Amino acid sequence: MLRTLQRRSQRRELMDGSGLGDAGLQAEVLADLAEVNRLTRTHEPVLQFLRQAWSELPRGRLVRVLDIGCGQGDLLRHIWVLAGELGRPVQLCGLDLQPHTVLAARMATPPDMPVRYIAADVFKHQPEDIDFVVCAQVAHHLTDAQLLALLGWLQRHARVGWCVTDLRRHWMPYLGFRWLARLLGWHPVVQVDGTRSIARAWTPAEWRRLLLQAGVRAEVRCHLPFRLAVCMRLDRHAPPNLASQAGPADR
Ligand SMILES: C[S@@+](CC[C@H](N)C(=O)[O-])C[C@H]1O[C@@H](n2cnc3c(N)ncnc32)[C@H](O)[C@@H]1O
Repeated sequence: MLRTLQRRSQRRELMDGSGLGDAGLQAEVLADLAEVNRLTRTHEPVLQFLRQAWSELPRGRLVRVLDIGCGQGDLLRHIWVLAGELGRPVQLCGLDLQPHTVLAARMATPPDMPVRYIAADVFKHQPEDIDFVVCAQVAHHLTDAQLLALLGWLQRHARVGWCVTDLRRHWMPYLGFRWLARLLGWHPVVQVDGTRSIARAWTPAEWRRLLLQAGVRAEVRCHLPFRLAVCMRLDRHAPPNLASQAGPADR
């Protein structure tokens, strides 16, 4: 590993805090991020997780999904399409810290996709009943202590399961991303933040240590390209044969 990547970077991203301070610029950057997600199939692990989990629920049961740090809302739109393909009734909600981001998500979501968007800090948010929580590429914005708090939040609020996906700190994407971003003409903010995000991410071993510390028995799976997914089934309202798969920390 490169010396600079031996530890997580603490360097803030340009989009952190109150964001870029301009709704138009924020929307432009978020559109490029959604394009990065599309090209690198970022949301595939979440969709796989939901497809599997839904297949074990009664047909026709409504599922309520919350996306934390929803960005431009592209993951929720994928989930809407998946639900349509599977004939699964869904209630979708996206939450993001930044009001400009929530505005961009509303604008990018067609009116016939009933997704509710909320501007809020997840740590201050008390959700209504929610079955699944998904959280894509948000974790690396947090400190270790905040990640532990997020894991606790997920365990408390998701009834049936949750899935967190994030980047992996690795020299290959760290060196390669800025060239790819330049080649594809992505916004300079995406070029800078993309590289900083990779340096801020945890390695799979660090994730396992934090999960142990949180007492959460979730598996860390690596996905191409240099992504990982941490998913958990809680099955609080599922039949006993499913509930028996949950570990002691989950009950
Ligand atoms: C890199 S973006 C990822 C957006 C989207 N999920 C995706 O996959 O493209 C991280 C998002 O997390 C949001 N975020 C960071 N901390 C948050 C918090 N405490 N509560 C809610 N959203 C948060 C940021 O505002 C930002 O939109």
